[in-house]
Amino acid sequence: MNHARIIGTGGHLPEKVLTNADLEQRIETTAEWIVERTGVEERHIAAPGETTCDLAEHASRRALEAAGLEPSDIDLIVLGTTTPDHVFPSVATQLQHRLGCPGGPAFDVQAVCTGFVYALDIADRFIRTGAARRALVVGADTFTRIIDWRDRGTCILFGDGAGAVVLEAADKPGIIDSRLGADGRYKELLWVPAGVSSGYDQTRQNAAFVEMRGSEVFKVAVTTLKDIAEQILTANRMTVADVDWLIPHQANRRILAATAKRLGLPEGRMVDCVRTHGNTSAASVPLALDVAVRDGRIQRGDTLLLEGFGGGFTWGAVLLTY
Ligand code: COA
Repeated sequence: MNHARIIGTGGHLPEKVLTNADLEQRIETTAEWIVERTGVEERHIAAPGETTCDLAEHASRRALEAAGLEPSDIDLIVLGTTTPDHVFPSVATQLQHRLGCPGGPAFDVQAVCTGFVYALDIADRFIRTGAARRALVVGADTFTRIIDWRDRGTCILFGDGAGAVVLEAADKPGIIDSRLGADGRYKELLWVPAGVSSGYDQTRQNAAFVEMRGSEVFKVAVTTLKDIAEQILTANRMTVADVDWLIPHQANRRILAATAKRLGLPEGRMVDCVRTHGNTSAASVPLALDVAVRDGRIQRGDTLLLEGFGGGFTWGAVLLTY
């Protein structure tokens, strides 16, 4: 039992939908511009009072149901988020409490849009060492809470959501390999300048919101997503031809298309939910996975390549047999 495999997936999007036509009313933009530059047509926005833990709970219950398990079967929760309900305690501990499965370790991972991929890598290691047997791995964010709705360069891209998987110990993979990375020198290309320790700069109007140098992020994202895919495939003596489905971080349509093109992967083998989800940060990869599992595109035995990329920068790839 020194492998981990996914036995259930779940996703949840808040009810409220914000369309590009809605954004036309708020900022100087056009629906055409947004679609052409990003591929996003609409995104889901958490209602007032609806939190990251609320979204995570819905997605987790769906994943548990798909796995045919009860919450009490779970002995580890790892949750990727950048927008926790509170500074502390973590969302993972509150999720554990709501599900009613106390006792095992539960913690959040902060790797921005790579949060779920980091969480999956960590949970896989717990299972492979025997420290856990069944793990709930979640990516959940209410990223729109840290968006400046006057900034047309960022507010068009992001949405809220949560995705989850249940991992179980297995005799064979499952997860074949995973690779994580980070480089903090890129901090100011994509960040929220405010923080608990550094303080809130009252002189800067947007100090508690996401700031992004979009075109520079774009270039690093495409190069990194291509490089990490090639690295993990080469290390496992595989090629793009062996991948049934690429599930990249749903940053924006142009990043996805450029990544597929550089890898020589037909776009028909890439899961793309950008049009209706936008960029949901840590939720983007598990949400896309869940969509493609539930609509029947992803079948048992398929080889999947999951890829994350986010602020920091952080990045990661997970290669697995579904
Ligand atoms: N509507 C209309 N015009 C807009 C606009 C909007 N929503 N947002 C920006 N513009 C304008 C800019 O002000 C600029 O005008 P100027 O030339 O008069 O100064 C022009 O469009 C081009 O701006 P630029 O930032 O170079 O556009 P772009 O083609 O790079 O597209 C992004 C902007 C944000 C869509 C694009 O850079 C992007 O998607 N980057 C990656 C972001 C990302 O995925 N981040 C998350 C990674 S985890």
